[in-house]
Amino acid sequence: MLVTGKDILVPARKGKYAVGAFNTNNMEITQAIIHTAERLRSPVIVQMSEGAIKYGGQDLANIVIDIATRATVPVALHLDHGSSYESALKAIKMGFTSVMIDASHHPFDENVHETGRVVEAAHAMGISVEAELGRLGGIEEHIVVDEKDAFLTDPEEAVKFVELTDVDYLAIAIGTSHGAYKGKGRPFIDQARIKKIGELLSIPLVAHGSSGVPAEIVQRLRDSGGEIGDAAGIADEDLTEAAGYGIAKVNVDTDLRLASTVGIREVLKANPKEFDPRKVFGPARDLMSKIVEHKMKVLGSVGKA
Ligand code: G3H
Ligand code: 13P
Ligand code: ZN
Repeated sequence: MLVTGKDILVPARKGKYAVGAFNTNNMEITQAIIHTAERLRSPVIVQMSEGAIKYGGQDLANIVIDIATRATVPVALHLDHGSSYESALKAIKMGFTSVMIDASHHPFDENVHETGRVVEAAHAMGISVEAELGRLGGIEEHIVVDEKDAFLTDPEEAVKFVELTDVDYLAIAIGTSHGAYKGKGRPFIDQARIKKIGELLSIPLVAHGSSGVPAEIVQRLRDSGGEIGDAAGIADEDLTEAAGYGIAKVNVDTDLRLASTVGIREVLKANPKEFDPRKVFGPARDLMSKIVEHKMKVLGSVGKA
């Protein structure tokens, strides 16, 4: 069933588990996400960025809404990194049940103002809202505290931000970053900061940039002719720990991008004569389903629907 983000995330926060928010750009990705959720009885969030809306538009949103409506587990359709009030309102008109307004690059007061406007409009229509405070970016564990504080979310400021905006869930900067290159070895994630913010705030917290970039998938990408540098993602145990401290929404895009590319590459490498799209995209969909399944197990959302 199609529900709001709050319907999914408030129980997750209370139950100390997290729900995967997976980015989609086509039918196969959407099926991998929602069909896996159904099979594992897990709630799930499907998200579309503004780029995904530009690429797939209302057609793609309708695919998500249709599969979600027929599913027997809770599914929300969420706008990822909405850049303006207009963008958030457009997504709501398209049928999204959750929107993010990302004004985190603006000064605090402007972020509060932009977020507040979206919250007011969205709440009037029963839609829940995510905002972000702090700057996303890989942080080396050894850097001095002052430098960390310049980027990462300040706990006291987070409390003030939520009070002023009435936002439903808050993305916090904790050292993670978008993409396949999150740092050397085991990328740093500031658990102490998550714990502190989780103690001060009872709303669900959101971790962006949470792909695991599995070494096995990276190797298979190379073996099938792909090129990728020194890729690394967030360790499974780090996500499980963060869920215990208040992270209830975990954003994953890169892992599904890697899996779909590996699936397609492997088929075409093994069968250069293949040109049936079902034979090309099918294995990619299967591999994405495995990634989604793994993440749901790590986050503890299996069996929660
Ligand atoms: O956080 C960004 C997501 O990975 C979406 O990326 O804007 O290229 O669709 P995109
Ligand atoms: P990854 O690049 O780690 O998958 O993060 C995606 C994300 O945060 C989308 O908002
Ligand atoms: Zn993000």
